[in-house]
Amino acid sequence: MRVGVLTGGGDCPGLNAVIRAIVRTGAADHGCEFIGFRDGWRGPLEGDTQPLGVSEVRGILPRGGTILGSSRTNPLTESAAREGKTGLERITENLGRLGVDALIAIGGEDTLGVADQLSRAGARVVGVPKTIDNDLNATDYTFGFDTAVNIAMEAIDRLHTTAESHHRALIVEVMGRNAGWIALHAGLAGGANVILIPEHPFDIEEVCEYVRQRFETRYAPIVVVAEGAHPKTIGAPVADSQLDAFGHVRLGGVGQLLAEEIEQRTGKEARCAVLGHIQRGGTPTAFDRVLATRFGIHAIRAVADGAFGTMVALRGTDIVRVPLAEATRELKLVPPERYAEAEVFFG
Ligand code: F6P
Repeated sequence: MRVGVLTGGGDCPGLNAVIRAIVRTGAADHGCEFIGFRDGWRGPLEGDTQPLGVSEVRGILPRGGTILGSSRTNPLTESAAREGKTGLERITENLGRLGVDALIAIGGEDTLGVADQLSRAGARVVGVPKTIDNDLNATDYTFGFDTAVNIAMEAIDRLHTTAESHHRALIVEVMGRNAGWIALHAGLAGGANVILIPEHPFDIEEVCEYVRQRFETRYAPIVVVAEGAHPKTIGAPVADSQLDAFGHVRLGGVGQLLAEEIEQRTGKEARCAVLGHIQRGGTPTAFDRVLATRFGIHAIRAVADGAFGTMVALRGTDIVRVPLAEATRELKLVPPERYAEAEVFFG
C-alpha cells in the first residue's frame, strides 16, 4: 500500500513524532510505502511531494515543526478550483496519478474538516488530531498542548521574579483562539494571580481589583490572558483585519490593551509579554512525544484495517477511532466549573 501523509494548519511540537511513528510502524508491520505531501493541502492540490521513508524519519522524534511543512491552504475555496475542477477533484486526481492508496491528514479542525469532505467524496482518508489549543472535542488531549503549557509555565515562573524586583504587574498573553486551555493550565501551574480566557469575558475593574490586592502583599501580580479573551464591554476578541484561507482573523493585542488599562486604573506600572509562536516551536515534551507516537501507530493501523473516514483520538488512556466528522462538530471549551477552580487563586 502506498500511503500519503500531510501536516496542515499551525505547526505543533510532536508532528514529526507522528510522521516517524506512521512510517516506522507502516514499514515494519504493514509493508507500506510512503509519500510526503508538502505544506498541508497545498501538496495534494498541486501534486507537490517529497520522499518519505524510514531513512527520512531518522532523528526527527525530538525536532519541533514538521519535516513536511505546513500551510493553511483551503482546497474548499473557489480559488482552489482550476481548469473546471474543484479543489477536491484536483486532489483526487493527483492522488490517483501518484498511485496513493490512502492519505493520512494530521491537523486541527480546518485540516480535518477538509479530510472529512475528501473522505465523503470517496477518498480513503484517516485523520490525526493536532492543535496546541487542545480544543478538539473528539479527543481528551491533542499533542503539542503539553509542550505549549510547559513553555508558558516557564515564562510565568521567570516573569514572577522580574515583576517582583520592579514592583510592576506583568501581563502574559498566550495562545488560545476559542478555548482558554493553555492560559488555564499554564496559569495554574505558574501561580498566576488572574487568568483570563475566551469562554469567560472579563470585567476590567475586577481584574484591576485583583491586581491591587496582589500589590498589597510583597509580591507582584501576574495576569495570564489568552489571545481570544475579551472584556465584557467589547464582546469580541482583539484582532487585526487579516483573514486566513479558512476565514479566521489574526488575534493579538489583548495583553497590551490590558497593560494600558491596568496602569491607568491602578497607577501601577504594567508591562505585557506576548509569547506567540514561541509556544509552538522547539522540542516536544515527553508527554507529547508519547501521545504523538501512539497517534501515529494507531493511524497507520487504521489504514491497514481499512477504517477510512475515521480519526484517532485519546479517550482516557486508550487510543480509539472516531468518525472524522466528529473532529469538526464541536469545540472543547473550558467549562465554567473548571474556571471556577482557578478563581480561588485570583488576587
Ligand atoms: O490554532 C493554533 C494556533 O496556535 C492558535 O492558538 C493561534 O490563534 C493560531 O494558531 C495562530 O496561527 P498563525 O500561525 O497563523 O499565526
